[in-house]
Amino acid sequence: MVLDGLRRLEYRGYDSAGVAVLAGQGRLAVERKAGRLSNLEDRLTEVGRDAFAGTAGIGHTRWATHGAPVDRNSHPHRDAANRVAVVHNGIIENFAALRAELEAAGVEFASDTDTETVAHLVARAYDGVDGAEGTAGDLPASMRAVCRRLDGAFTLVVTHVDQPDVIVAARRSSPLVVGIGEGETFVASDVAAFIEHTRDAVELGQDQVVTINRDGYHVTDFRGEDAVSRPFHVDWDLSAAEKGGYEYFMLKEIEEQPEALADTLRGHFNGGRIVLDEQRMSDQDLRDVDKVFVVACGTAYHSGLIAKYAIEHWTRLPVEVELASEFRYRDPVLDRDTLVVAVSQSGETADTLEAVRHAREQKARVLAVCNTNGAQIPRESDAVLYTHAGPEVGVASTKTFLAQIAANYLVGLALAQARGTKYPDEVAREFDELAAMPEQVRRVLGTVEKVRSLGRSLADAKAVLFLGRHVGYPVALEGALKLKELAYMHAEGFAAGELKHGPIALIEEGLPVVVVMPSPKGRAVLHAKLLSNISEIQARGARTIVIAEEGDETVRPFADELVEVPAVPTLLQPLVSTVPLQVLAAEIARARGYDVDKPRNLAKSVTVE
Ligand code: F6R
Repeated sequence: MVLDGLRRLEYRGYDSAGVAVLAGQGRLAVERKAGRLSNLEDRLTEVGRDAFAGTAGIGHTRWATHGAPVDRNSHPHRDAANRVAVVHNGIIENFAALRAELEAAGVEFASDTDTETVAHLVARAYDGVDGAEGTAGDLPASMRAVCRRLDGAFTLVVTHVDQPDVIVAARRSSPLVVGIGEGETFVASDVAAFIEHTRDAVELGQDQVVTINRDGYHVTDFRGEDAVSRPFHVDWDLSAAEKGGYEYFMLKEIEEQPEALADTLRGHFNGGRIVLDEQRMSDQDLRDVDKVFVVACGTAYHSGLIAKYAIEHWTRLPVEVELASEFRYRDPVLDRDTLVVAVSQSGETADTLEAVRHAREQKARVLAVCNTNGAQIPRESDAVLYTHAGPEVGVASTKTFLAQIAANYLVGLALAQARGTKYPDEVAREFDELAAMPEQVRRVLGTVEKVRSLGRSLADAKAVLFLGRHVGYPVALEGALKLKELAYMHAEGFAAGELKHGPIALIEEGLPVVVVMPSPKGRAVLHAKLLSNISEIQARGARTIVIAEEGDETVRPFADELVEVPAVPTLLQPLVSTVPLQVLAAEIARARGYDVDKPRNLAKSVTVE
């Protein structure tokens, strides 16, 4: 059961994996292995799985922060007497001081991790040797006492051989959910881990500790006071968390994009008006906004770059888009009339969370765009608009990117509506155009076979460049990011107009260059300029792969390979032109023999800064 749960969470980290089972007679059975979960499974088969029979167990898959991904740094970590086992997500920032204190007390460490300190601290609290009051023989009290001493972000899960029916878990700024089954209870960092057993869950709040046994759970704060937690029912099932016949989750998720878009838009146009989800902001609040920031990382950041074009055009408000990791350390100009839109699929990304905290400290209002119900970023924001893309397991974001674009556009339309920069019928028209996009994306998906074979033909390329202008520019950046992540190939996205200011020096005979064309009708001037840019690179021997609107005949002579996408309004073009780039990256990566769901060195949730 623990291994099944880990398999569904492996997208969160896959440097190493481990399990600990309370195997009866005061025995803690532990096995850990570097590499993928399958290595651990092979190891368990080798040593005999019978040794791991029990009714309470914990497991972990790791994305290394402290200490290389080798067996001895893998979780669970134990105290010296092998009585306590701990798994941990996040970083314990004061671990060096805690470790020094423990070493001074004669404790020997078996790993390079920050996590191991917790195993020793819990064991010592439980044994009553560290002077903390009321912790001896009490595992929840020991956990609370230790949590009070920790700085940083963490989810911890602890077992003790003396308490074979109990598991204690705690969280601060890192996710933890409880699953309520019949005669069985679960804790995990994501409901996907226990979705085949129960869809009834409870989300823990900040700085809470939960004690579970087979019959239920009890939640307190770090001081031991009873605490309120939020029960919820998961509205997707096991099939959503499984591959459903696809070779990779990512390929399934690319195909799911029409539904992700439709589900994200559903219900947001009601009674002739745009309505957001949990809008704890009034129309007056939206009218007071005098500046918008979009903060996010990676692909979510690219969705923000696209939103800038739409929101500025619709609202006449200045929009700044910033990488969350830079935003907070730059002293941005924020006040109560600034709206900060924090875009995050997971809702857990540490950089984005810190940006949200910084913005709120400066009294700005924060609206989260998030795909994970109740995650930390929406919890700490003033308002939230959920993308309903369903679980995304492939590490590279695909369907959530399209859903983020749609959600960001809803924010723009809500602002335009409240501020009267668009008439109600104009808002309705923009929404209708958005609502027609799932069908257009479906059409693109029907034609990507050609892109697949193109991808295979590019498997040996050394590098690929991506060019675009206007909204095609962030699409080019996203195409390059997908290729880097999945195919480990050098890939760069550029604003096509910048080419002659430097990057054109990279062009050489046969270099594949992907160009995202604007519409010849909607953006005639830009279209003409891009054709000139393509001529410049063609003249220098590049192999041009052009993504262009159906029926755009003028582009043919410029395209060594032409990929056609449906004609759609300019601002919506990223929703169709991104799709072939996702397929291209996946196909090149597969042709090179890589696992597109779990690219090397990456993890789905980046919960450390
Ligand atoms: C790229 C990718 C990452 C994430 C980034 C932000 O394919 O998945 O770049 O977009 O780590 O993650 P979230 O959206 O969860 O905040």
